[in-house]
Amino acid sequence: MVSETIITSAQFKKLSGIVYKESGIVLNKKKYNLLAARLAKRMRLKKISSVSDYIQLISNNKDEFVEFIDATTTNHTYFFRENKHCEYILHAMDGKKPLKIWCAASSSGEEAFSIAVQLLANSFSFTIYASDISDSMLNLGKKAIYPVERVKNVPLSILHTYFQKGKNKWKNHVKLKPQVQQYVRFEKFNLLSDTPFDTFDIIFCRNVMIYFDTETRQRVVSSLCSALNPGGYFFVGMSESLNGLDHGLTTVLPSGYKKK
Ligand SMILES: C[S@@+](CC[C@H](N)C(=O)[O-])C[C@H]1O[C@@H](n2cnc3c(N)ncnc32)[C@H](O)[C@@H]1O
Repeated sequence: MVSETIITSAQFKKLSGIVYKESGIVLNKKKYNLLAARLAKRMRLKKISSVSDYIQLISNNKDEFVEFIDATTTNHTYFFRENKHCEYILHAMDGKKPLKIWCAASSSGEEAFSIAVQLLANSFSFTIYASDISDSMLNLGKKAIYPVERVKNVPLSILHTYFQKGKNKWKNHVKLKPQVQQYVRFEKFNLLSDTPFDTFDIIFCRNVMIYFDTETRQRVVSSLCSALNPGGYFFVGMSESLNGLDHGLTTVLPSGYKKK
């Protein structure tokens, strides 16, 4: 049975090596069950019963390779997560000058839309570029439809102004209004291998570097810092920090940094 997929240690090494090379995500032995479960799902969908056949498939088939990498990502997120960073921007930045913001591991879009609704509520001028390695998450962000549990931290006034309630089969969902969606552009960007094509006033790269080793973190931070405008802000997740990395930024609040 595929649901009881056994991965030999040689296969685990091969698969985790593929994931590391493509995304920087480290799958150590503790992640065996996670990889087995996600692999089983892909194998079930592709009607493949042997792990070695699946490894063969991803070596030859680009589409399935992309699906496999997507399946190994952890996409947990919710609205108004670690909102201190956004509150900081609201008081530290000038709302009149148009701000270019990048959410550089945006998952399904909750982070980008949380920032967008607060900036709109405070009459800021801005655009947000939301990127991720996962096509399935980017597609969810483009739809901008979320189960109601995801918005439980959203203040009611913001919920009423910027979200619409679903009806009938969507009654347990909300959708961002088009007036908010127009500020957020979703596009694929692999932090490990893509080169930033623009510069930004604020970059959020939160709750992704926990999946990387120090070498990858350094690479990602150097790349993102090069895309940060002078005086710009850089935010990582609250359980992450830039300790031990070369960056030249100044700490302004926990997990929040400023470029000179
Ligand atoms: C846990 S989510 C964080 C979402 C959001 N930033 C937050 O803090 O709530 C981590 C995201 O990082 C993405 N990710 C992992 N490796 C990546 C890479 N190499 N390039 C871009 N995104 C990556 C995953 O697909 C996932 O959606």
